[in-house]
Formats: sequence, C-alpha cells, structure tokens
Amino acid sequence: MSAIRYELIKKDKKTGARLGRLYTPHGVIETPIFMPVGTQATVKTMSPEELKQMNAQIILSNTYHLFLRPGHDIVKEAGGLHHFMNWDRPILTDSGGFQVFSLSDLRKITEEGVHFRNHLSGEKLFISPEKSIEIQNALGADIIMAFDECPPYPADRDYVKKSLERTTRWAERSLKAHSRPNDQALFGIVQGGVYKDLREQSAKEITSLNFPGYAIGGLSVGEPKEMMFDILEYTTPLLPEDKPRYLMGVGDPESLFEGVIRGIDMFDCVLPTRIARNGTAMTSQGRLVVRNAKYARDFGPIDPKCSCYTCQNYSRAYVRHLLKADEIFGLRLTTYHNLFFLLNLMKNIRQAILEDRLLEYKEEFFAEYGRNEL
Ligand code: GUN
Ligand code: ZN
Repeated sequence: MSAIRYELIKKDKKTGARLGRLYTPHGVIETPIFMPVGTQATVKTMSPEELKQMNAQIILSNTYHLFLRPGHDIVKEAGGLHHFMNWDRPILTDSGGFQVFSLSDLRKITEEGVHFRNHLSGEKLFISPEKSIEIQNALGADIIMAFDECPPYPADRDYVKKSLERTTRWAERSLKAHSRPNDQALFGIVQGGVYKDLREQSAKEITSLNFPGYAIGGLSVGEPKEMMFDILEYTTPLLPEDKPRYLMGVGDPESLFEGVIRGIDMFDCVLPTRIARNGTAMTSQGRLVVRNAKYARDFGPIDPKCSCYTCQNYSRAYVRHLLKADEIFGLRLTTYHNLFFLLNLMKNIRQAILEDRLLEYKEEFFAEYGRNEL
C-alpha cells in the first residue's frame, strides 16, 4: 500500500489546472499548494505555531543539510524530523542531489553517486541513491524524493541525455533502497533540461517505475521563463493524471499561476522567505522594498489588502525601522507576511478553480501586481 493517496476533485475546463487532495500520514493537503522551505529543520525565523496560524499545510526540508548537521542519526534518535522540530503536519524532504550541486565544493559525479566536500568543514563525503534514501528513511518525512542530477543551464544535449539516463538508473536504485514504502511516499523526478524529446524520454522512463507521485526537476535554473513554461506545458501531460505533480524550486506568483494552469499540484521555493530577510515584501501591488527611505514615515500596513498578523498590527515605518536596526523581529514580520501572501494566493487559486474563474482571477491579480514583477 502507498503511504499517500491523491484524490482528483476537479479538472478546469479551460486550462490544465486541477483541484485535489493529498492524504498523507500527517494529514490532508489541499492542492495546488505552496510548500514553505525549512532547509535546516526550521522555516527561518518562524515557529511551527506561526506556520499553522498562516495555514501552512506542508513544509519542505533538506537531506543534504540535515546529513551534514546535526546528522540523520540524531534526528532519528529524536523520534524523526516531525518530533525533532515539533511539526506534526506533513513534511517533504528533497533528496540532496540538487543541494550537493549548488552548495558543496569539489563535487564529482560517478555512476555510483556524488563525491563532494562538506561546505562547512571541508570533510570528504559521498551521497549515493542508497545513502540519500537511508537518510530520508531516518528523517521520516511523509514524502521523500529520488536521488537525481539537475544539470545546469545551459548544458549540451549529449550531457543532458547521459545525465537523465543516469537519473533513471538512480531512480531505480532509490526505489530498491526505500525501506518504508508504507509510511513514506517516494516521488520520482523527471529531468531532461530544455530538450522536449529528452523530457519525453525521462518522463517515459521515470513513470514506468510507478512512483506514487512525480516531480519535474531541472527548471528555474537560469533558462528564460517562457522556455520553462513551454517545457512545463509539454512535460506535465506526460505524467499520470491520478498522481500528484510537483514542480521543484519554483514559487514566484507568475510561475505559480502558469504552473497551476499547466497541471502542477505542488510547488516549493526559498524566494518568499529569502527576500523577506533582505527587506522585500510581496504585496497585492507587486514587490515592495520595505527598507526604502520613502517608507520612513509611512504608518500604513505593508499591504493594505493583507489580513496577516504583520499587516494587522504593524506599519511600514516600524518594520523598516526594525530592519534598518538589524532587529530580529523585523525579519520575522516580513517572513510572516510573505509566506501568508503566497499561501493566501494559492488558496485564492484553489477557490478560483472551484468557481471556474482561474483565468479571470489571474488577470485580476496581475492587473494590480504588475507583469514585470517576480
Ligand atoms: N530543487 C529544484 N530543482 C531540483 C531538481 O532538479 N532536483 C532536486 N532534487 N531538487 C530540486
Ligand atoms: Zn501581510
């Protein structure tokens, strides 16, 4: 039996959008959904209580980081990641492949796995599909990811083809190594870069392995947005309709709309939390740089249309002051707002699908938000 069950509630008639429910061992997720990122077993500056208050349904964490520190053995000893971080709702862990490439030094890919140096200590380490799954089994997330390679952009076709074929072999090894299929769902990852025929090859190979869910990886790595949307439009229909589809590492409002329209159910991205910490808020009117001098005497909320804790209680002037003075509370207030904003956007998108007005809602949203904003 699979650890999760996907229920398709409604298909949009005008687009590829779907409304669904994902039943996991730690509760039900309404899809399409955005997953806040908690890389180091914490969504930076937020408590689990605050995440619940803003209706976060599932968070993402990272194999690579927790393997390096504190070590999956310690998390396991604590009773698993849910207990360790006091989060009793669903968790998804990424497999580490992507983070090894973006963070570690001196990595070397072989058929066996990836050799790299710990970016914290310099220590030589190795992660294989078997090791990634062993770590993810110890962490105990509801959804875990196959170990894959995400090629850079640009990359030549020959390299991307060899890489996706290795990713398929790693996916088979990930499945074989998985020891908790009854309470952790292992998702496969489709690669293939920006080459449609390679996306098709990867989708065929990965779906033949019959995972309970599928991710599309290797996008939002520097290619033009239109190219990403085009690849997405081509790839999503190659995935089975009765299983969840996850677009990895994407979370700006435009990509969320365009992803949903092309049939994506799950998204994650560090964008809202990362820009919050350098003083940028996502608002109904587009991005707002709270740190700007022009807000020094602005006693209105960050977003007058937002009903979050930050906007109900604090002014732009106050948040700006906290950020300028390096006060931690400032980071917490902008982070709370940005996550609330994106979670609320996804809620509105789900409601719009339910009411057959997704494209109308998209037009309404961007009329205010602005087309050129991320
Ligand atoms: N996060 C963003 N893109 C990717 C990807 O291609 N693979 C994995 N494992 N994680 C990602
Ligand atoms: Zn707000």
